[in-house]
Amino acid sequence: MLHVKHLTVQYSPGDPLVLRDIHFSLEPAERVALIGANGAGKSTLLLTLIGVIKPREGGITLGGIPMNQERLRELRQLAGMVFQDPDNQLFMPTLMDDIGFGLRNYGFDETAIEERIAAILAQLGISHLKNRLSHKLSGGEKRLAALAGVLVMDPSLLLLDEPSAFLDPRSRRTLISILAGLPQTMLVATHDLDLAQTLCPRAILLKEGRVFAEGPTQELLQNHTLLEQAGL
Ligand SMILES: Nc1ncnc2c1ncn2[C@@H]1O[C@H](COP(=O)(O)OP(=O)(O)OP(=O)(O)O)[C@@H](O)[C@H]1O
Ligand SMILES: [Mg+2]
Repeated sequence: MLHVKHLTVQYSPGDPLVLRDIHFSLEPAERVALIGANGAGKSTLLLTLIGVIKPREGGITLGGIPMNQERLRELRQLAGMVFQDPDNQLFMPTLMDDIGFGLRNYGFDETAIEERIAAILAQLGISHLKNRLSHKLSGGEKRLAALAGVLVMDPSLLLLDEPSAFLDPRSRRTLISILAGLPQTMLVATHDLDLAQTLCPRAILLKEGRVFAEGPTQELLQNHTLLEQAGL
């Protein structure tokens, strides 16, 4: 469903390479954890996969479509990302406007939009936030709202950047069980190794912009030497 080949990324010419020769694939419905120390390149990789950052070298194919500027709109429908900082995601005044933004953009009618939003909010247990102002939500509420805004579009690939950050233990458990029940292919960047293990059978370990190890999450997380070498 997703193929990444020899991907190299640099923020500006002359800067050091932030991702180097990244190579991996995700099978449909597979859930893979992306782990690695601060600055390893996890967020950069996810942003590159949704076309926000343009690779210097290498190729990305999503659902059989090669990523390039002409097909970005199509690809954006296939992949949805929840950003590490929800303030980068929520930009409309009210939650309803925010979550409905993508659907309105694609021309869905208002009744359908409202029904779909109501269903997603109920699924995430945040129906009570419906009429609240986005910028006045708490950190955890913002994160769930951002997730709602992505799920409402029903993407095939979910890119989640630190989905459990800011969540209280109960919301975190709710989130994990919701994610575990979703049919989507997922790539989940996280420092929450327990979430990685619960949710993702496979993991990719990044170190300084390279794939340092890849394999069953449980095996990787039990290899303390490996984790230490990767700065975790
Ligand atoms: N906009 C930017 N311009 C230049 N360099 C950047 C930019 N964003 C990130 N970097 C650099 O790219 C590298 C990878 O950053 P990235 O945010 O992808 O790491 P990460 O693995 O997500 O870290 P964290 O665990 O802290 O979220 C870091 O060295 C960072 O300083
Ligand atoms: Mg990050």
